[in-house]
Amino acid sequence: TTAAALAISATAAMAQGETIGFSQIGSESGWRAAETTLTRMQAEERGYQLQFSDAQQRQENQIAAIRSFIAQGVDAILLAPVVATGWDAVLQEAQEAEIPVVLLDRQVDSSDELYLTAIGSNLVHEGEVAGEWLAAEVGDRDCRIVELQGTTGSSPAIDRKTGFENAIGAHDNLSIVRSQTGDFTRALGKEVMESFIQAENGGRDICALYAHNDDMAVGAIQAIKEAGLKPGEDILIVSIDGVPDIFQAMANGEANATVELTPDMAGPAFDALEAFWADGTQPEKFIQTESKLYTQADDPQGEYDTRKDLGY
Ligand code: AHR
Repeated sequence: TTAAALAISATAAMAQGETIGFSQIGSESGWRAAETTLTRMQAEERGYQLQFSDAQQRQENQIAAIRSFIAQGVDAILLAPVVATGWDAVLQEAQEAEIPVVLLDRQVDSSDELYLTAIGSNLVHEGEVAGEWLAAEVGDRDCRIVELQGTTGSSPAIDRKTGFENAIGAHDNLSIVRSQTGDFTRALGKEVMESFIQAENGGRDICALYAHNDDMAVGAIQAIKEAGLKPGEDILIVSIDGVPDIFQAMANGEANATVELTPDMAGPAFDALEAFWADGTQPEKFIQTESKLYTQADDPQGEYDTRKDLGY
């Protein structure tokens, strides 16, 4: 089927208010909740029917949801893929059914011919920004870093690790001494940080925490406080996402820096779909969102308020 033919059948659907299937990963983090909220808001504003499916972190649930969207004949599918591998077969099925798929925030290892476009940040760059901030902050001091990784096998966990290691690689005084997954959740972030603290002289041998997302950092802050140390001072904290709770922690002096990941992935996704439906316009295969560093010097209370007002 040509792109033009696909566009024509989709244009017919457009007139009736499109049905969009959204296979969301789950609700593991504040960022994920914000992405879900903004996707629902965007869909409502544009008059779409959103079929929402929460996969509870399981790829098999996502695959089942996509198959069900295909069976229903939705007009498009949004997929936030929990892990990077294992998508070829179901993406092929969507393509055979002539349903465009847009990836949100995480990447897949499949050929980019199997989806219309992917919306996301440069995840390696996010890790680099975090690592460069830390290197500048500690200067010549020796710094033993502990790392809380995201969900094993997910593209942000893989790429944020790579980016951070790239950035600190040039600094002999910085080293990652412990690294474990906290699955992007607050509860596991706290639990794993407790074990790091225990193994590192009650936390006194830890200079900094790098967490692949803010929620794990927020959990770790609690663990650090319970160990009688001051997060943000005794242990520097840098993480990724820019959710309201990390700005609150920064305003309280308990976290030091975050790299923002916009939760509005649906806006660019729907723009790309609308252009495609209108005349077959093929978007770029990767539509990159901005990554911005915030520190305690950047009015964290104001950033908190702004995000709360936006409904995050
Ligand atoms: O894929 C984006 C990541 O997933 C966010 O950084 C994290 O908070 C979420 O769980």
